[in-house]
Amino acid sequence: MGGSALVVRDLSVGYGPVRALRQVSLDVPEGAVVTVLGSNGAGKSTLLRAVSRTLSFHGGAVTGGTVSLDGRPLDRLPPDRVVAAGVSQVPEGRRVFARMTVADNLRAGALGAVGGRKERAAALHRVHDLFPVLAERAQQRAALLSGGEQQMLAVARALMAAPRLLLLDEPSLGLAPLMAARIAETVREINAQGTSVLLVEQNAALALRLASRAYVLEVGEVTLSGPAQELAASDEVRRRYLGVVDEDAAADASGARATHPMLSRWEG
Ligand SMILES: Nc1ncnc2c1ncn2[C@@H]1O[C@H](COP(=O)(O)OP(=O)(O)OP(=O)(O)O)[C@@H](O)[C@H]1O
Ligand SMILES: [Mg+2]
Repeated sequence: MGGSALVVRDLSVGYGPVRALRQVSLDVPEGAVVTVLGSNGAGKSTLLRAVSRTLSFHGGAVTGGTVSLDGRPLDRLPPDRVVAAGVSQVPEGRRVFARMTVADNLRAGALGAVGGRKERAAALHRVHDLFPVLAERAQQRAALLSGGEQQMLAVARALMAAPRLLLLDEPSLGLAPLMAARIAETVREINAQGTSVLLVEQNAALALRLASRAYVLEVGEVTLSGPAQELAASDEVRRRYLGVVDEDAAADASGARATHPMLSRWEG
């Protein structure tokens, strides 16, 4: 614990004339799970792309501000060097290489990483431990996996680079509640193994349960931030982000449901 692994300061991003982020500042302390909430188009994916330096693939560019990891600027690095520096991203929409086998998808994930055969073997061992189904299906094409399994593969592929910081873009999107809950559990486990996590989610109830700190992004600006529990209890977040989430109620083992799925836990 202690220092801030990832420090984002006054970050502004544009896609041509479209200003997607304005002076966003955010910290992911070493060992923490930090979440960024926000509705469609708020700029969540843009923020992750700016950190992973993949904005240019989407026609975007940083127009101001800085991103650093342990005091080391990432601003000028190409994406593969960001991976080598310890930051892996699971992009939106669980993009796996559909025609490649599960095993080859995982191999691809290790490409940008530092370390040799031994480190790769350890990383593979770790992801097979986390997701045994990926060991069972190693020789199958990724396209044959279920949506939830593909999301697991996308997360596992990012973990193959043995990141210190994992960037997760809406890992629960489009998954059935039980599968979303499983992914959440895995995120917790990955974090417990020592990887910091920056989690972008529309499913605020799920995200606020996992994170210690949260930021709310609205139209490219941070409008609220603080300890996740405080945000979960705030009227603003309850109304705008928790009131509309009902998937979690079903995922919650207790079966608590409908409009106030998680709040009792925070109020108690
Ligand atoms: N490739 C792109 N080209 C042009 N504009 C883009 C591009 N990607 C995103 N934008 C714009 O930037 C803003 C932020 O988009 P972004 O995808 O970061 O939002 P988001 O919070 O991830 O949304 P969602 O929840 O829908 O994934 C939006 O106005 C969006 O239209
Ligand atoms: Mg997005």
